[in-house]
This record gives sequence, structure tokens and C-alpha cells, in this order.
Amino acid sequence: MDIFIVYAHPSSKSFTYQIREALLTGLQKGRHNVEVSDLYKMDFHSDMTEHEYEQESFAQTDLPLSEDVVAEHQKMEWAGCIIFLYPLWWSDCPAKMKGWFDRVYSVGYAYGYNKEGQKVRKMKTIKYGIAICTAGHPNDFLEETGIAESMRKIMLEDRLGVRFENKKMMILGGTLDIEKVKNLHLNNVRALGEHIENYFEK
Ligand SMILES: Cc1cc2nc3c(=O)[nH]c(=O)nc-3n(C[C@H](O)[C@H](O)[C@H](O)COP(=O)(O)O)c2cc1C
Repeated sequence: MDIFIVYAHPSSKSFTYQIREALLTGLQKGRHNVEVSDLYKMDFHSDMTEHEYEQESFAQTDLPLSEDVVAEHQKMEWAGCIIFLYPLWWSDCPAKMKGWFDRVYSVGYAYGYNKEGQKVRKMKTIKYGIAICTAGHPNDFLEETGIAESMRKIMLEDRLGVRFENKKMMILGGTLDIEKVKNLHLNNVRALGEHIENYFEK
């Protein structure tokens, strides 16, 4: 399968980076084709410019999009699966990734309406969407407090939404006590990479 990874973490000394490497190992074993947008390394512009905002808000879909946005659209059109990999920061993805959605999910491409008020989008429907999120708090805490549910609602139901046929979120919690969870998380991610389809059958 053609897998596009949108990755957001500033440091290669992080646990999230180790997860990324384990995921890549699994994907390689599963003989998948992989393309990574490493948003910090690319210095991806997460802020909308005034011009981009106006184009978006006034639905000026006839105007050209920024080159970096078009490049991301091309990767999305190529992919059969998109994996969003990030650490949980203040109960959401880092601003860098939030800005990816702000800019790359452009009007007319990822969402929009025609003159008759019907929904239209150019973006194809992608077969699989996966959010993998490392978190300091343990999974039990995130579930009990409702934070996990809000993460799933925002990421899977809204951001991935109707654009993806099958959607799942893997929360890799408890990283504050890393030795307890490290191997379990690394093994789970490696297995996911190797057998993406199986992950959706569970
Ligand atoms: C700015 C910042 C905000 C964070 N906010 C949360 C949070 O809201 N909930 C949580 O469980 N962990 C939070 N954490 C902990 C990270 O999720 C955790 O460090 C990360 O998932 C795994 O560590 P890594 O940075 O080594 O990859 C936060 C960490 C940082 C740096």
C-alpha cells in the first residue's frame, strides 16, 4: 500500500521519534511504499497568511494555492493510507500539525459547497486513516477524564471525517513512566506497520 505519514515532533531524541522509527521498520517489513512529511524538518508553515485566510474564507477556489500546500495534496492523492503521528500537547496535536490541517485542508479541496449549497470536494476518499498519538498520561486516565474521547471526536470524526473510509486512533499513553510502556508501544506500532489491514479488522 502507499502510505503517507504526516509527522510532527521537533526532536529526534524523543520517544515519538522512536515510535516513528518502529513504524517505518514495520512498514518496510510489510513492503509498503512510504512518503513522510516531517513537518518540523520541512519547516512547514503552520500559520495562514492574510492572503490564504481571505482565499479560504471567501471560498476563492479559482485562485492558485501555495506550492507547499499543492505538494501535500499530491502526496494525499497518491496515498491509500495516511498516518498522523504526533505527541499529545495540551490534549491535541502540536500547533505545527494543526496548521497543516488549517492550510492543507483548503476550501474546494478538502471541503466546500457549490452554489446550490451541496457539499463538494476534490480530495479523493482515502481508504485508511490512522492517528498515532503518544501521551504522558496513561490511557486509563485519558479515558476516565473523557480526554481520549474528545481526541477521537476531533481527530477522527472531524479532521479525518468523511474523507477517510476507515479511521482509527492509537493512543500510546503513559510515557511519563516510559520504561513501563516503552516496549509494548514500540511492538504494537511495529505490528501495525507490518499488517495495516489487520489493524482495522480488530
Ligand atoms: C508542550 C507539552 C504539552 C503536553 N501536554 C500533554 C497533555 O495534555 N497530556 C498528556 O498526556 N501529555 C502531555 N505532554 C506529554 C507528552 O505527550 C509526552 O511527552 C509525549 O507524548 C512523549 O514524549 P516525547 O516528547 O519524548 O515524544 C505534553 C508535553 C509537552 C512538551
